[in-house]
Amino acid sequence: MARTCLTIILAAGEGSRMKSATPKVLHELAGKSLVGHVIGSAIKAGGDTQAVVVGRDADLVEAEARRFSDDVVIVEQKERLGTGHAVLCARDVIARGFDDILVVTGDTPLLRPESLLRLRRAREHGADVVVLGFRTDEPFGYGRLIESDGELLAIREHRDCSDEELKIRFCNGGIIALNGDRALEILEAIGNDNAKNEYYLTDAVEIARSKRMKTSAIEADENELHGVNDRYDLARVEGIWQSNRRSELMRSGVTMQAPETVHLCHDTVIGTDTVLEPNIYFGPGVEIAEGVQIRAFCHLEGVRIAAGAQVGPFARLRPGTVLKEDAKVGNFCEVKNAAVEKGAKINHLSYIGDARVGAKANIGAGTITCNYDGANKWHTDIGAGAFIGTNSSLVAPVKIGDGAYVGSGSVIVSDVASDALAIARGRQVVMEGRGREIRERNARIKEERKKSR
Ligand code: UD1
Ligand code: CA
Repeated sequence: MARTCLTIILAAGEGSRMKSATPKVLHELAGKSLVGHVIGSAIKAGGDTQAVVVGRDADLVEAEARRFSDDVVIVEQKERLGTGHAVLCARDVIARGFDDILVVTGDTPLLRPESLLRLRRAREHGADVVVLGFRTDEPFGYGRLIESDGELLAIREHRDCSDEELKIRFCNGGIIALNGDRALEILEAIGNDNAKNEYYLTDAVEIARSKRMKTSAIEADENELHGVNDRYDLARVEGIWQSNRRSELMRSGVTMQAPETVHLCHDTVIGTDTVLEPNIYFGPGVEIAEGVQIRAFCHLEGVRIAAGAQVGPFARLRPGTVLKEDAKVGNFCEVKNAAVEKGAKINHLSYIGDARVGAKANIGAGTITCNYDGANKWHTDIGAGAFIGTNSSLVAPVKIGDGAYVGSGSVIVSDVASDALAIARGRQVVMEGRGREIRERNARIKEERKKSR
Protein backbone atom coordinates (compact mmCIF):
# COMPACT_ATOMS: atom_id res chain seq x y z
CA MET A 1 0.00 0.00 0.00
CA ALA A 2 1.21 3.51 -0.78
CA ARG A 3 2.36 5.61 2.13
CA THR A 4 -0.02 8.34 3.29
CA CYS A 5 1.23 11.89 3.61
CA LEU A 6 0.05 15.07 5.28
CA THR A 7 1.68 18.37 4.29
CA ILE A 8 1.47 21.17 6.83
CA ILE A 9 2.17 24.56 5.32
CA LEU A 10 3.13 27.27 7.78
CA ALA A 11 1.70 30.57 6.70
CA ALA A 12 0.83 32.34 9.95
CA GLY A 13 4.03 34.29 10.57
CA GLU A 14 3.88 38.04 11.08
CA GLY A 15 6.13 38.74 8.14
CA SER A 16 6.78 42.12 9.76
CA ARG A 17 10.02 42.63 7.83
CA MET A 18 8.01 42.87 4.61
CA LYS A 19 6.62 46.18 5.98
CA SER A 20 3.38 45.53 4.17
CA ALA A 21 -0.39 45.69 4.60
CA THR A 22 -0.48 42.35 2.72
CA PRO A 23 0.33 39.12 4.61
CA LYS A 24 3.76 37.84 3.59
CA VAL A 25 2.63 34.59 1.96
CA LEU A 26 0.26 36.54 -0.32
CA HIS A 27 3.09 38.51 -1.89
CA GLU A 28 3.65 37.32 -5.43
CA LEU A 29 6.43 35.56 -7.24
CA ALA A 30 5.99 35.39 -11.02
CA GLY A 31 2.39 36.53 -10.61
CA LYS A 32 1.41 33.82 -8.11
CA SER A 33 1.31 34.03 -4.32
CA LEU A 34 4.19 32.53 -2.33
CA VAL A 35 1.77 30.16 -0.59
CA GLY A 36 0.32 29.19 -3.98
CA HIS A 37 3.77 28.09 -5.15
CA VAL A 38 4.26 25.99 -2.01
CA ILE A 39 0.81 24.34 -2.16
CA GLY A 40 1.45 23.54 -5.82
CA SER A 41 4.69 21.71 -4.98
CA ALA A 42 3.05 19.87 -2.06
CA ILE A 43 0.28 18.59 -4.31
CA LYS A 44 2.81 17.51 -6.96
CA ALA A 45 4.75 15.58 -4.31
CA GLY A 46 1.71 13.39 -3.82
CA GLY A 47 0.47 14.70 -0.48
CA ASP A 48 -2.95 13.24 0.36
CA THR A 49 -3.94 16.14 2.58
CA GLN A 50 -2.67 19.70 2.75
CA ALA A 51 -3.19 21.70 5.92
CA VAL A 52 -2.42 25.41 5.85
CA VAL A 53 -1.76 27.16 9.15
CA VAL A 54 -3.02 30.72 8.87
CA GLY A 55 -2.81 33.70 11.22
CA ARG A 56 -3.06 37.35 10.35
CA ASP A 57 -5.75 38.02 7.71
CA ALA A 58 -6.74 34.37 7.95
CA ASP A 59 -9.68 34.76 5.59
CA LEU A 60 -7.50 36.23 2.83
CA VAL A 61 -4.91 33.48 3.10
CA GLU A 62 -7.64 30.83 3.26
CA ALA A 63 -9.31 32.17 0.11
CA GLU A 64 -5.97 32.10 -1.69
CA ALA A 65 -5.18 28.54 -0.53
CA ARG A 66 -8.57 27.31 -1.72
CA ARG A 67 -7.83 28.54 -5.24
CA PHE A 68 -5.24 25.77 -5.52
CA SER A 69 -7.14 22.94 -3.89
CA ASP A 70 -10.76 22.68 -2.72
CA ASP A 71 -9.99 20.28 0.06
CA VAL A 72 -7.15 22.00 1.88
CA VAL A 73 -7.67 22.00 5.63
CA ILE A 74 -7.34 25.47 7.12
CA VAL A 75 -6.03 25.67 10.66
CA GLU A 76 -5.85 28.92 12.60
CA GLN A 77 -2.90 29.85 14.77
CA LYS A 78 -4.34 32.54 17.04
CA GLU A 79 -1.05 33.66 18.59
CA ARG A 80 2.31 33.60 16.79
CA LEU A 81 4.30 31.54 19.24
CA GLY A 82 6.73 29.98 16.77
CA THR A 83 6.97 27.34 14.06
CA GLY A 84 6.69 24.43 16.54
CA HIS A 85 3.50 25.89 17.99
CA ALA A 86 2.18 26.52 14.46
CA VAL A 87 2.56 22.85 13.51
CA LEU A 88 0.79 21.74 16.68
CA CYS A 89 -2.21 23.87 15.74
CA ALA A 90 -2.82 21.12 13.17
CA ARG A 91 -2.95 18.55 15.98
CA ASP A 92 -6.40 17.24 14.99
CA VAL A 93 -5.33 16.64 11.42
CA ILE A 94 -2.09 14.95 12.51
CA ALA A 95 -4.15 12.69 14.81
CA ARG A 96 -6.03 11.33 11.79
CA GLY A 97 -2.90 9.28 11.22
CA PHE A 98 -0.40 9.54 8.34
CA ASP A 99 2.82 7.70 7.54
CA ASP A 100 4.65 10.92 6.64
CA ILE A 101 4.19 14.47 7.78
CA LEU A 102 5.90 17.15 5.74
CA VAL A 103 6.21 20.56 7.33
CA VAL A 104 6.86 23.26 4.78
CA THR A 105 7.34 26.97 5.44
CA GLY A 106 5.01 29.11 3.36
CA ASP A 107 7.83 31.51 2.51
CA THR A 108 10.13 29.17 0.55
CA PRO A 109 8.42 29.34 -2.84
CA LEU A 110 11.23 27.87 -4.94
CA LEU A 111 10.95 24.48 -3.23
CA ARG A 112 10.64 21.71 -5.84
CA PRO A 113 8.31 18.71 -5.49
CA GLU A 114 11.31 16.44 -6.20
CA SER A 115 12.91 17.56 -2.94
CA LEU A 116 9.77 16.74 -0.95
CA LEU A 117 9.82 13.31 -2.56
CA ARG A 118 13.45 12.85 -1.47
CA LEU A 119 12.41 13.59 2.11
CA ARG A 120 9.66 11.01 1.86
CA ARG A 121 12.13 8.46 0.51
CA ALA A 122 14.41 9.04 3.50
CA ARG A 123 11.40 8.42 5.75
CA GLU A 124 10.74 5.20 3.89
CA HIS A 125 14.31 4.19 4.67
CA GLY A 126 13.64 4.58 8.37
CA ALA A 127 14.48 8.14 9.39
CA ASP A 128 11.98 9.59 11.87
CA VAL A 129 12.95 13.22 11.36
CA VAL A 130 14.48 14.40 8.06
CA VAL A 131 15.54 17.98 7.43
CA LEU A 132 16.08 19.57 4.03
CA GLY A 133 19.24 21.64 4.25
CA PHE A 134 21.41 23.73 1.95
CA ARG A 135 24.92 25.09 1.93
CA THR A 136 25.39 28.83 1.54
CA ASP A 137 28.01 31.56 1.82
CA GLU A 138 25.36 33.78 3.38
CA PRO A 139 23.99 31.76 6.31
CA PHE A 140 22.91 34.85 8.24
CA GLY A 141 19.49 34.36 9.87
CA TYR A 142 19.11 30.67 9.08
CA GLY A 143 19.11 27.82 11.58
CA ARG A 144 22.39 25.84 11.41
CA LEU A 145 22.47 22.07 11.00
CA ILE A 146 24.79 20.54 13.55
CA GLU A 147 26.13 17.21 12.39
CA SER A 148 28.59 14.67 13.58
CA ASP A 149 29.78 11.69 11.54
CA GLY A 150 27.02 12.30 9.00
CA GLU A 151 24.34 12.27 11.67
CA LEU A 152 22.13 15.26 12.34
CA LEU A 153 22.36 16.13 16.02
CA ALA A 154 20.47 19.39 16.24
CA ILE A 155 19.30 22.54 14.50
CA ARG A 156 20.44 25.70 16.20
CA GLU A 157 18.64 28.96 15.41
CA HIS A 158 20.91 31.82 14.36
CA ARG A 159 20.21 33.82 17.52
CA ASP A 160 21.01 30.88 19.74
CA CYS A 161 24.28 29.89 18.03
CA SER A 162 27.69 30.10 19.64
CA ASP A 163 30.43 31.89 17.67
CA GLU A 164 31.72 28.50 16.52
CA GLU A 165 28.25 27.39 15.38
CA LEU A 166 27.72 30.65 13.48
CA LYS A 167 30.53 29.55 11.15
CA ILE A 168 28.51 26.55 9.96
CA ARG A 169 27.31 26.99 6.40
CA PHE A 170 24.94 24.03 6.29
CA CYS A 171 21.52 25.57 7.00
CA ASN A 172 17.95 24.56 7.70
CA GLY A 173 15.75 25.15 4.65
CA GLY A 174 12.66 25.15 6.88
CA ILE A 175 11.30 21.92 5.43
CA ILE A 176 11.09 18.89 7.67
CA ALA A 177 9.60 15.40 7.35
CA LEU A 178 8.33 13.66 10.47
CA ASN A 179 7.29 10.13 11.27
CA GLY A 180 3.50 10.48 11.44
CA ASP A 181 3.16 7.89 14.19
CA ARG A 182 5.47 9.80 16.50
CA ALA A 183 4.92 13.40 15.39
CA LEU A 184 2.63 14.42 18.25
CA GLU A 185 4.95 12.91 20.81
CA ILE A 186 7.84 14.98 19.40
CA LEU A 187 5.91 18.20 18.87
CA GLU A 188 4.37 18.19 22.32
CA ALA A 189 7.81 18.01 23.88
CA ILE A 190 8.95 21.30 22.26
CA GLY A 191 9.48 24.12 24.76
CA ASN A 192 10.22 27.83 24.37
CA ASP A 193 13.43 28.25 26.29
CA ASN A 194 15.47 30.18 23.70
CA ALA A 195 16.50 33.67 22.58
CA LYS A 196 13.06 34.49 21.15
CA ASN A 197 10.95 32.56 23.67
CA GLU A 198 9.30 30.82 20.74
CA TYR A 199 8.34 27.19 20.23
CA TYR A 200 10.85 26.20 17.56
CA LEU A 201 9.96 23.35 15.27
CA THR A 202 13.69 22.93 14.82
CA ASP A 203 13.94 21.50 18.35
CA ALA A 204 12.23 18.42 16.94
CA VAL A 205 15.65 17.06 15.98
CA GLU A 206 17.16 17.06 19.47
CA ILE A 207 13.93 15.79 21.00
CA ALA A 208 13.73 12.90 18.54
CA ARG A 209 17.34 11.97 19.34
CA SER A 210 16.67 12.03 23.06
CA LYS A 211 13.93 9.49 22.33
CA ARG A 212 16.37 7.38 20.32
CA MET A 213 14.74 8.10 17.00
CA LYS A 214 16.67 8.41 13.73
CA THR A 215 17.37 11.90 12.38
CA SER A 216 19.09 12.96 9.20
CA ALA A 217 19.61 15.85 6.82
CA ILE A 218 19.34 15.90 3.06
CA GLU A 219 21.01 18.59 0.98
CA ALA A 220 19.20 20.57 -1.68
CA ASP A 221 20.41 23.44 -3.84
CA GLU A 222 20.71 26.78 -2.10
CA ASN A 223 18.68 28.42 -4.83
CA GLU A 224 15.72 26.25 -3.98
CA LEU A 225 15.55 27.09 -0.31
CA HIS A 226 15.87 30.86 -0.15
CA GLY A 227 13.30 32.06 2.38
CA VAL A 228 11.44 35.31 1.85
CA ASN A 229 11.63 37.49 4.94
CA ASP A 230 11.81 40.93 3.34
CA ARG A 231 11.42 42.51 -0.07
CA TYR A 232 15.07 42.11 -0.91
CA ASP A 233 14.61 38.34 -0.50
CA LEU A 234 11.45 38.55 -2.58
CA ALA A 235 13.32 40.19 -5.46
CA ARG A 236 16.07 37.62 -5.13
CA VAL A 237 13.76 34.59 -5.39
CA GLU A 238 11.98 36.28 -8.28
CA GLY A 239 15.33 36.62 -10.05
CA ILE A 240 16.15 32.96 -9.50
CA TRP A 241 12.70 31.81 -10.64
CA GLN A 242 12.83 33.98 -13.76
CA SER A 243 16.26 32.76 -14.72
CA ASN A 244 15.28 29.09 -14.24
CA ARG A 245 12.10 29.43 -16.27
CA ARG A 246 13.83 31.33 -19.07
CA SER A 247 16.41 28.57 -19.34
CA GLU A 248 13.66 25.95 -19.59
CA LEU A 249 11.90 27.89 -22.34
CA MET A 250 15.11 28.47 -24.30
CA ARG A 251 15.97 24.78 -24.02
CA SER A 252 12.47 23.96 -25.28
CA GLY A 253 13.07 25.97 -28.47
CA VAL A 254 12.23 29.60 -27.73
CA THR A 255 14.75 32.24 -28.85
CA MET A 256 15.43 35.09 -26.43
CA GLN A 257 17.78 37.73 -27.76
CA ALA A 258 18.38 39.24 -24.31
CA PRO A 259 17.02 36.68 -21.83
CA GLU A 260 17.65 38.74 -18.71
CA THR A 261 15.23 41.42 -19.98
CA VAL A 262 12.29 39.03 -20.44
CA HIS A 263 9.94 38.88 -17.45
CA LEU A 264 7.73 35.78 -17.38
CA CYS A 265 4.66 34.80 -15.40
CA HIS A 266 4.11 31.45 -13.65
CA ASP A 267 1.72 30.34 -16.40
CA THR A 268 3.40 31.77 -19.52
CA VAL A 269 3.34 29.30 -22.41
CA ILE A 270 5.55 29.89 -25.47
CA GLY A 271 5.87 27.62 -28.50
CA THR A 272 8.99 26.61 -30.37
CA ASP A 273 10.65 28.94 -32.86
CA THR A 274 9.03 31.93 -31.27
CA VAL A 275 11.50 34.80 -31.11
CA LEU A 276 11.47 37.26 -28.22
CA GLU A 277 13.37 40.48 -28.77
CA PRO A 278 14.65 42.35 -25.69
CA ASN A 279 12.47 43.88 -22.95
CA ILE A 280 9.20 41.99 -22.87
CA TYR A 281 6.81 41.69 -19.91
CA PHE A 282 4.41 38.78 -19.57
CA GLY A 283 1.51 39.14 -17.12
CA PRO A 284 -0.77 36.20 -16.28
CA GLY A 285 -2.59 34.15 -18.89
CA VAL A 286 -0.37 34.44 -21.95
CA GLU A 287 -0.25 31.57 -24.41
CA ILE A 288 1.90 31.88 -27.52
CA ALA A 289 2.05 29.31 -30.32
CA GLU A 290 4.98 28.42 -32.58
CA GLY A 291 6.90 30.80 -34.80
CA VAL A 292 5.57 34.01 -33.34
CA GLN A 293 7.68 37.14 -33.31
CA ILE A 294 7.43 39.42 -30.29
CA ARG A 295 9.53 42.49 -30.95
CA ALA A 296 11.15 44.72 -28.36
CA PHE A 297 9.29 46.52 -25.52
CA CYS A 298 5.94 44.73 -25.41
CA HIS A 299 3.58 44.24 -22.46
CA LEU A 300 1.24 41.22 -22.69
CA GLU A 301 -1.43 39.94 -20.33
CA GLY A 302 -4.35 37.52 -20.83
CA VAL A 303 -3.53 36.96 -24.51
CA ARG A 304 -3.60 34.04 -26.95
CA ILE A 305 -1.39 34.35 -30.00
CA ALA A 306 -1.47 31.89 -32.89
CA ALA A 307 1.39 30.73 -35.09
CA GLY A 308 3.12 33.21 -37.34
CA ALA A 309 1.72 36.33 -35.70
CA GLN A 310 3.88 39.41 -35.14
CA VAL A 311 3.66 41.82 -32.25
CA GLY A 312 5.42 45.11 -31.54
CA PRO A 313 7.79 46.74 -31.08
CA PHE A 314 6.09 48.74 -28.31
CA ALA A 315 2.71 46.99 -28.28
CA ARG A 316 0.40 46.48 -25.33
CA LEU A 317 -1.91 43.48 -25.50
CA ARG A 318 -4.46 43.40 -22.69
CA PRO A 319 -6.74 40.63 -21.38
CA GLY A 320 -9.13 39.02 -23.81
CA THR A 321 -6.96 39.60 -26.86
CA VAL A 322 -6.74 36.77 -29.36
CA LEU A 323 -4.44 37.04 -32.36
CA LYS A 324 -5.07 34.42 -35.02
CA GLU A 325 -2.47 33.05 -37.47
CA ASP A 326 -0.26 35.65 -39.15
CA ALA A 327 -2.06 38.60 -37.57
CA LYS A 328 0.06 41.72 -36.99
CA VAL A 329 -0.09 44.27 -34.23
CA GLY A 330 2.61 46.87 -34.71
CA ASN A 331 4.20 49.74 -32.84
CA PHE A 332 2.33 51.85 -30.28
CA CYS A 333 -0.87 49.83 -30.53
CA GLU A 334 -3.09 48.76 -27.65
CA VAL A 335 -5.50 45.86 -28.10
CA LYS A 336 -8.00 44.74 -25.44
CA ASN A 337 -10.72 42.08 -25.44
CA ALA A 338 -10.56 41.73 -29.20
CA ALA A 339 -10.24 38.94 -31.73
CA VAL A 340 -7.84 39.81 -34.52
CA GLU A 341 -8.48 37.22 -37.19
CA LYS A 342 -6.14 35.56 -39.65
CA GLY A 343 -3.75 37.90 -41.40
CA ALA A 344 -5.40 41.10 -40.14
CA LYS A 345 -3.10 44.08 -39.61
CA ILE A 346 -3.13 46.79 -36.97
CA ASN A 347 0.22 48.27 -37.71
CA HIS A 348 0.58 51.68 -36.12
CA LEU A 349 -0.69 53.80 -33.22
CA SER A 350 -4.15 52.29 -32.75
CA TYR A 351 -6.50 51.40 -29.90
CA ILE A 352 -8.70 48.40 -30.64
CA GLY A 353 -10.91 47.43 -27.68
CA ASP A 354 -14.01 45.20 -27.41
CA ALA A 355 -13.85 44.36 -31.09
CA ARG A 356 -13.48 41.78 -33.81
CA VAL A 357 -11.15 42.52 -36.68
CA GLY A 358 -11.99 40.19 -39.58
CA ALA A 359 -9.44 38.19 -41.55
CA LYS A 360 -7.08 40.30 -43.68
CA ALA A 361 -8.71 43.55 -42.61
CA ASN A 362 -6.32 46.53 -42.57
CA ILE A 363 -6.56 49.01 -39.75
CA GLY A 364 -4.93 52.31 -40.70
CA ALA A 365 -2.57 54.24 -38.44
CA GLY A 366 -4.25 56.05 -35.58
CA THR A 367 -7.57 54.20 -35.76
CA ILE A 368 -9.46 54.24 -32.47
CA THR A 369 -12.44 52.17 -31.42
CA CYS A 370 -14.49 54.46 -29.17
CA ASN A 371 -15.75 51.63 -26.99
CA TYR A 372 -16.72 53.45 -23.81
CA ASP A 373 -19.48 56.00 -23.27
CA GLY A 374 -18.52 56.78 -19.70
CA ALA A 375 -20.82 54.06 -18.35
CA ASN A 376 -20.86 51.09 -20.72
CA LYS A 377 -18.51 49.31 -23.07
CA TRP A 378 -19.70 48.64 -26.63
CA HIS A 379 -18.57 46.31 -29.38
CA THR A 380 -17.06 47.15 -32.78
CA ASP A 381 -17.27 44.55 -35.51
CA ILE A 382 -14.97 44.92 -38.50
CA GLY A 383 -15.57 42.52 -41.39
CA ALA A 384 -13.06 40.44 -43.31
CA GLY A 385 -10.99 42.42 -45.80
CA ALA A 386 -12.30 45.78 -44.60
CA PHE A 387 -10.01 48.80 -44.97
CA ILE A 388 -10.13 51.43 -42.26
CA GLY A 389 -8.44 54.65 -43.39
CA THR A 390 -5.93 56.28 -41.07
CA ASN A 391 -6.99 58.45 -38.16
CA SER A 392 -10.55 57.12 -38.07
CA SER A 393 -12.74 56.86 -34.99
CA LEU A 394 -15.21 53.98 -34.90
CA VAL A 395 -17.89 54.89 -32.36
CA ALA A 396 -19.26 51.66 -30.90
CA PRO A 397 -21.60 49.91 -31.14
CA VAL A 398 -20.87 49.85 -34.83
CA LYS A 399 -20.40 47.30 -37.59
CA ILE A 400 -18.21 47.64 -40.67
CA GLY A 401 -19.13 45.06 -43.32
CA ASP A 402 -16.77 42.71 -45.16
CA GLY A 403 -14.71 44.49 -47.79
CA ALA A 404 -15.97 47.95 -46.80
CA TYR A 405 -13.81 51.09 -47.03
CA VAL A 406 -13.68 53.86 -44.46
CA GLY A 407 -12.14 57.13 -45.67
CA SER A 408 -9.22 58.53 -43.65
CA GLY A 409 -10.13 60.83 -40.80
CA SER A 410 -13.71 59.58 -40.55
CA VAL A 411 -15.78 59.48 -37.40
CA ILE A 412 -18.05 56.49 -38.03
CA VAL A 413 -21.19 56.43 -35.91
CA SER A 414 -23.43 54.12 -37.92
CA ASP A 415 -23.02 50.76 -39.60
CA VAL A 416 -21.28 50.48 -42.97
CA ALA A 417 -22.56 47.81 -45.38
CA SER A 418 -20.26 45.26 -46.99
CA ASP A 419 -18.23 46.66 -49.88
CA ALA A 420 -19.52 50.20 -49.22
CA LEU A 421 -17.37 53.34 -48.86
CA ALA A 422 -18.03 55.55 -45.85
CA ILE A 423 -16.54 59.00 -45.47
CA ALA A 424 -17.47 61.06 -42.45
CA ARG A 425 -15.45 64.27 -42.31
CA GLY A 426 -15.59 67.90 -43.54
CA ARG A 427 -15.34 68.35 -47.28
CA GLN A 428 -12.14 69.85 -48.65
CA VAL A 429 -12.26 73.47 -49.83
CA VAL A 430 -9.46 75.02 -51.97
CA MET A 431 -9.15 78.84 -52.42
CA GLU A 432 -6.65 79.87 -55.10
CA GLY A 433 -4.07 82.45 -53.95
CA ARG A 434 -5.51 82.75 -50.45
CA GLY A 435 -2.42 81.15 -48.88
CA ARG A 436 -0.17 83.90 -50.26
CA GLU A 437 -2.58 86.62 -49.07
CA ILE A 438 -2.44 85.30 -45.52
CA ARG A 439 1.35 85.09 -45.57
CA GLU A 440 1.70 88.68 -46.80
CA ARG A 441 -0.79 90.00 -44.26
CA ASN A 442 1.07 88.31 -41.39
CA ALA A 443 4.40 89.74 -42.57
CA ARG A 444 2.86 93.26 -42.59
CA ILE A 445 1.61 92.89 -39.02
CA LYS A 446 5.07 91.81 -37.92
CA GLU A 447 6.71 94.93 -39.48
CA GLU A 448 4.16 97.29 -37.88
CA ARG A 449 4.77 95.76 -34.44
CA LYS A 450 8.54 96.22 -34.79
CA LYS A 451 8.16 99.93 -35.68
CA SER A 452 5.84 100.65 -32.78
CA ARG A 453 8.34 99.22 -30.21
C1 UD1 B 1 12.85 29.28 9.97
C2 UD1 B 1 13.59 28.21 10.77
C3 UD1 B 1 15.06 28.29 10.42
C4 UD1 B 1 15.26 28.11 8.94
C5 UD1 B 1 14.39 29.13 8.15
C6 UD1 B 1 14.40 28.77 6.68
C7 UD1 B 1 12.41 27.81 12.88
C8 UD1 B 1 12.39 28.09 14.34
N1 UD1 B 1 13.38 28.41 12.17
O1 UD1 B 1 13.34 30.54 10.41
O2 UD1 B 1 15.79 27.28 11.10
O3 UD1 B 1 16.61 28.27 8.60
O4 UD1 B 1 13.02 29.08 8.58
O5 UD1 B 1 13.72 29.71 5.90
O6 UD1 B 1 11.59 27.05 12.40
N2 UD1 B 1 5.20 30.75 11.05
C9 UD1 B 1 3.94 30.48 11.55
N3 UD1 B 1 3.68 30.69 12.87
C10 UD1 B 1 4.62 31.16 13.73
C11 UD1 B 1 5.91 31.45 13.21
C12 UD1 B 1 6.17 31.22 11.87
O7 UD1 B 1 3.07 30.04 10.80
O8 UD1 B 1 4.30 31.33 14.90
C13 UD1 B 1 5.47 30.52 9.63
C14 UD1 B 1 5.82 31.79 8.85
O9 UD1 B 1 4.65 32.31 8.21
C15 UD1 B 1 6.81 31.30 7.82
C16 UD1 B 1 7.43 30.09 8.44
O10 UD1 B 1 6.60 29.69 9.52
O11 UD1 B 1 6.14 30.91 6.63
C17 UD1 B 1 8.84 30.36 8.97
O12 UD1 B 1 8.78 31.39 9.91
P1 UD1 B 1 9.87 32.54 9.94
O13 UD1 B 1 9.53 33.45 11.07
O14 UD1 B 1 10.05 33.12 8.61
O15 UD1 B 1 11.14 31.66 10.37
P2 UD1 B 1 12.66 31.97 10.09
O16 UD1 B 1 13.16 32.92 11.15
O17 UD1 B 1 12.89 32.34 8.70
CA1 CA C 1 11.54 32.62 6.93
